[in-house]
Order: sequence, then structure tokens, then C-alpha cells
Amino acid sequence: MKTKILMVCLGNICRSPLAEGILASKLDPTKFEVDSAGTAGYHVGALPDKRSIAIAKQYGLDITYQRSRKFVKSDFQTFDYIFAMDQSNYDNILALAEMETDQAKIHMILNQITPNSNAEVPDPYYGGDQGFENVYRMLEEACSIFAEKIS
Ligand code: 4NP
Repeated sequence: MKTKILMVCLGNICRSPLAEGILASKLDPTKFEVDSAGTAGYHVGALPDKRSIAIAKQYGLDITYQRSRKFVKSDFQTFDYIFAMDQSNYDNILALAEMETDQAKIHMILNQITPNSNAEVPDPYYGGDQGFENVYRMLEEACSIFAEKIS
């Protein structure tokens, strides 16, 4: 059985699609499955934000196969690891957890870099392109550490 990892942000168009693309590029697809979702349904069915597509492309990743979807309770059954981009995402997912085993699956993504710090990936939606570069670098580091750990 594959180990399944879910990346979660608010809209599932900026941060978590990048996290999905970056982590998927570092793992063996025969052993791992990576997906992403948003806690809000504002953009369901949409492509990633064009700025996320552009920064990914700059680093050699194509994330245009992705479509936004909303996080659903059954994701707790489907996935082994659920990574939140920020505290608000974390709290929103936690509120849907019904069992301790569900709760234990939720982690802050940047705790891969700085354990227990609960540092957040800033929401770049209303910012400029610099925000996306910053987000990409943070996610690249966090995903490298996690991929090394579980591979
Ligand atoms: P994301 O960014 O959570 O990283 O996908 C956002 C995308 C859309 C909105 C907010 C954040 N929005 O309010 O529509």
C-alpha cells in the first residue's frame, strides 16, 4: 500500500499545490501518493494560481495537472500525513477530526524545518511575486527534509 500525504491550505490554489508538486517530485510514485486540498471551497475545480504555476515552472515543475478541491472528513481515512500550511488551516482541519488517530495525522509543514515552532507559510494570495518565491523556498526545504525522512 502506498503512503499517502495531503497538503492543505485555505484556497488550494497557491501554497498547497506548490507543496504537492514539490513533494511529489521528491518521492517514488510507486510508493507514495501526494495530493492537496483547501479548507475553503472558494476555488473548487480551478487550476493553481498563475503565480504558483509560474514559480513552479521556473524550478522545473509542472503543476497544471492539479485542480482545487475542498478538504473532506474522509481525507482522515485516506491519508497517512496531513500537512497544514498555517495555524488557521491546522485549526480548521483539527475541528473536523473525530478521533485521536485523525488528530495525530495533522502537522504544521514548517515543523519539518524547525520542530515545534509552528511557523507558518505566509499566504501569498494578496501579495506580489516575491511572496511566491519565498513560499517556494520554504516548501522546498520542508519537503526535502520530509522526503528524506520517509523515503
Ligand atoms: P492559498 O491562498 O490558501 O495558499 O491557496 C489563497 C487563495 C485564495 C484565497 C485566499 C488564500 N481567497 O481568499 O480566495
